[in-house]
Amino acid sequence: MSGHQTDRPLLQVSNLCVEFRTRDGIARVLDEVSLELQPGQTLGIVGESGCGKSMTALSIMRLIPSPPGQITAGEVRLAGEDLLRFDEQRMRDIRGKDISMIFQEPMTSLNPVFTVGDQIAESLRLHEGLSDKEAAARAVKMLKAVGIPEPQARAREYPHQLSGGMRQRVMIAIALACGPKVIIADEPTTALDVTVQAQIFDLLRDLKERTSTAIILITHDMGAIAEMTDRVTVMYAGRVVEEGPVEAILDAPKHPYTQGLIACVPQLDPNPTAERPPLEEIPGVVPALTRLGKGCAFAPRCKYAFERCDQEAPRRVSVDADHRAACWLLEEGTSA
Ligand SMILES: Nc1ncnc2c1ncn2[C@@H]1O[C@H](COP(=O)(O)OP(=O)(O)OP(=O)(O)O)[C@@H](O)[C@H]1O
Ligand SMILES: [Mg+2]
Repeated sequence: MSGHQTDRPLLQVSNLCVEFRTRDGIARVLDEVSLELQPGQTLGIVGESGCGKSMTALSIMRLIPSPPGQITAGEVRLAGEDLLRFDEQRMRDIRGKDISMIFQEPMTSLNPVFTVGDQIAESLRLHEGLSDKEAAARAVKMLKAVGIPEPQARAREYPHQLSGGMRQRVMIAIALACGPKVIIADEPTTALDVTVQAQIFDLLRDLKERTSTAIILITHDMGAIAEMTDRVTVMYAGRVVEEGPVEAILDAPKHPYTQGLIACVPQLDPNPTAERPPLEEIPGVVPALTRLGKGCAFAPRCKYAFERCDQEAPRRVSVDADHRAACWLLEEGTSA
């Protein structure tokens, strides 16, 4: 295949910038974030807490609380159309139908006063125009599809009657009900215990294999990234620092930040005996987004940083076909 992509991406985020007004000034929580998702693909987004993963997801859904937040630049194209230009009514048609989101804490996204069956059916009535009866029947089918036993009886229960894992299955059923093109799962298992986490990932993997739904998976779980994703975007301080096929990101990370993230997970470290700092080797914390300097945001924590890193933000450069990173070490003519 030639160097450039011939298929139009299903979802293409370009140079997205999001700012929040805070007491300390304007925080640029997303700075020229770009990513691409092809049909049927699973894209992982990783990065420490506060790096902008959820903000990226919420921007795509147009759910940034505004004020204090605002999308100040960029595009979010779904099948070529820029969602940022749509009015709220049109976005409501798209959410749940074309793009669905699964959040971390299912209890806060489910409505406590309606049965779970009704909540799945609601989406089907709204988007697919099904009758009450058809929608109720389909809701039961959806519960069955996400592995909920006795779906007929469960459909009549309220969220508080279900376990955390069951509630997350219900959320996935709602997200899937209208057969969306894209599902965004933002830490879908963080609130669950370990065995249930594995079950939810199994369910998502099954979904990935059976349907052509494209998935954006936001997770701290590098094992899940390795098992489930095709490509990975690494974020730091609201910027994309590296992006590429999952094998390249895990086995040959180029950005010092990605290297640090991977090295935190010993079983994934491609070269565990190499001279590499052991666990927790990324000292320091993510900087305040109101006070980012003009250089690389990671420079203050980077053991390879040199003068230029403090002065100028690195551009993203190709390190391989389909693999890019933003680091001065990778630019020609810079000494490492
Ligand atoms: N209402 C707000 N006002 C100002 N800043 C905010 C607001 N909400 C979030 N932020 C900031 O936006 C940045 C990105 O947050 P985001 O929730 O996207 O991080 P994340 O990568 O999803 O982290 P986590 O792994 O903890 O979920 C953070 O620095 C956060 O402090
Ligand atoms: Mg988050």
